[in-house]
Amino acid sequence: MKLAFWKKSGSAAGQVDFDRLPRHIAIILDGNGRWAKRRGLPRTAGHKVGSETFRTIATYCRDIGLEYLTVYAFSTENWKRPQDEVDTIMGLLKRYLLEAIETMERDNVRLRFMGDLTPLSGELRELVDRCNAISGRLTGCLCSICINYGGRAEIVHGAKMFAKDCAAGAVKPEDLTEDIFEKYLYSAGIPSPELLIRPGGELRLSNFLLWQCAYAELYFTDVLWPDFTREELHRAIAAYQSRDRRFGGI
Ligand code: IPE
Ligand code: IPE
Ligand code: MG
Repeated sequence: MKLAFWKKSGSAAGQVDFDRLPRHIAIILDGNGRWAKRRGLPRTAGHKVGSETFRTIATYCRDIGLEYLTVYAFSTENWKRPQDEVDTIMGLLKRYLLEAIETMERDNVRLRFMGDLTPLSGELRELVDRCNAISGRLTGCLCSICINYGGRAEIVHGAKMFAKDCAAGAVKPEDLTEDIFEKYLYSAGIPSPELLIRPGGELRLSNFLLWQCAYAELYFTDVLWPDFTREELHRAIAAYQSRDRRFGGI
């Protein structure tokens, strides 16, 4: 019902063919600090607004029927930041998890966490476990949140898990294929993103989904994440829909 309304309305929405959406969109949530700096605010204020933007965009992705959304919220490299900034981001994560526990069943949104969560506080890990338990009962849009995530770390972790299975005699090295290796990644069972969006103006991957984005269409925009809107998402999807995906063919 809502989808039909959006299909008919809005000039930007008109450029998007909602019947040909990608199944999986990945977004690097970048530009919070610069957004705040431009307003003379502390960087942490940018993270607060950025977390609101995430709520808006994640809800919209669910509304248009996207199957998978994966967002980069905190990298393995982001621990280098000042302690008060890291603490603010972890505080926002806690608030988000508490809200999600209350609303995800009603919204039919599943949450999954990708990354090494062991350095997170016991309280955060307990909230993550509760979200995972609720998600297991749901069927809706799967939103993966990458926390303490690094693409290289994910591949090394997968290689270690595979080596352990080899040592235990469960698998043989010569039987390894790309499809089998994918089962050892954090993203096991999730198709690779067709579209990767990076707001914030930087033209790099910053260690995000290195394996999974092998053939993703890349979309970069100067818009800073706290300013990112549904219309920006439409522009990214429309750009994706205009691309000629050849996968090495002609
Ligand atoms: C992204 O925004 C959020 C995280 C990396 C946690 P930034 O904080 O990197 O914002 P900029 O790039 O400094 O503007
Ligand atoms: C990438 O952004 C990580 C996240 C958005 C979580 P960064 O701001 O950390 O990346 P660099 O430092 O510009 O490469
Ligand atoms: Mg940044």
